[in-house]
Amino acid sequence: MNQFFQNVWKGLNSSPKYLESKYFYDEAGDKIFEEIMECPEYYLTNCEREIFQKQTAALTDKFLSQLKEFDVVELGAGSAAKTSYLLKHMVSQGIDFTYYPIDISGNVISNLTKNLPAKIPGLILHGLNGDYFDMLDELKLMSDRNKVVLFLGSSIGNINLEDTEDFFRLLRSHLLPGDMVLIGFDLKKDPQIILAAYNDKEGITKRFNLNLLKRINKDLDADFDITAFEHKPVYDAETGACKSYLVSSKNQSVRIGEVGRIQFNKGESIYMEISQKYTVAQTDTFAINSGFKPVHHFFDSKNWFLDTLWQAV
Ligand code: AVJ
Repeated sequence: MNQFFQNVWKGLNSSPKYLESKYFYDEAGDKIFEEIMECPEYYLTNCEREIFQKQTAALTDKFLSQLKEFDVVELGAGSAAKTSYLLKHMVSQGIDFTYYPIDISGNVISNLTKNLPAKIPGLILHGLNGDYFDMLDELKLMSDRNKVVLFLGSSIGNINLEDTEDFFRLLRSHLLPGDMVLIGFDLKKDPQIILAAYNDKEGITKRFNLNLLKRINKDLDADFDITAFEHKPVYDAETGACKSYLVSSKNQSVRIGEVGRIQFNKGESIYMEISQKYTVAQTDTFAINSGFKPVHHFFDSKNWFLDTLWQAV
């Protein structure tokens, strides 16, 4: 809560103003994100689901071609909807593994623990509630099998391009040689398709962004007028950066807490989120520069999305 205030206060006193997208996901935000994943414009989920539906056998074969035995770890497991296809297949093949979903939300972990083994009879699941890297370290003490780590949905896209290699180096430092990672990257494509995914007709993504202002109102006792901000996504085809902004539609002053005040000029923006898009070659370079080797590319049938498989060297 205090941490939240510090971040919000710092971001809104910066020039240009920004908020951190990790704060989107309160209870209401989680629900709105579920709606985004079901809306027709948000192709990312459909593309990756298709990969998991149609290529489960190929995925499993690639894991087995490099590792005799392994456990499956998922960073930010959510509802594990896509992963379920893979887990079901692996269980039906009689592969001996444990599924370790890691999530920062205790709610997510308790739901998975309750529901997933019932849906996939024979699945051995051990949920881990906490920070990704802390939990990966904890896991090392629990199992000495190699790991296949899933990091899906182009979650990596919320990290600036300049910081992405550092993230993968950090991930590598928590793994052992031979461990594998399967990472979802949203690829560069027709800019109109990308923009539509962040500007859906129903206004779900707009609500998703405005929900952070609502959260600040609720949790930090602020008085944002959410009708006085416009949702504006932009996509730069050259860099692949898709950025979302909330733009103040008038001159206004917002109170935060008892005494804090933030001034907005008409047209002034708050930078909310980056959803980076990539080329396949860029993702291979990330692998090589951060201690992995690319093993296989899994594409959807439109070639809009890539789940790439790397092995730690
Ligand atoms: C969860 C980070 C993959 O950036 O595409 C969806 C979040 N933001 N619509 C994305 C999001 C607006 C999403 N990720």
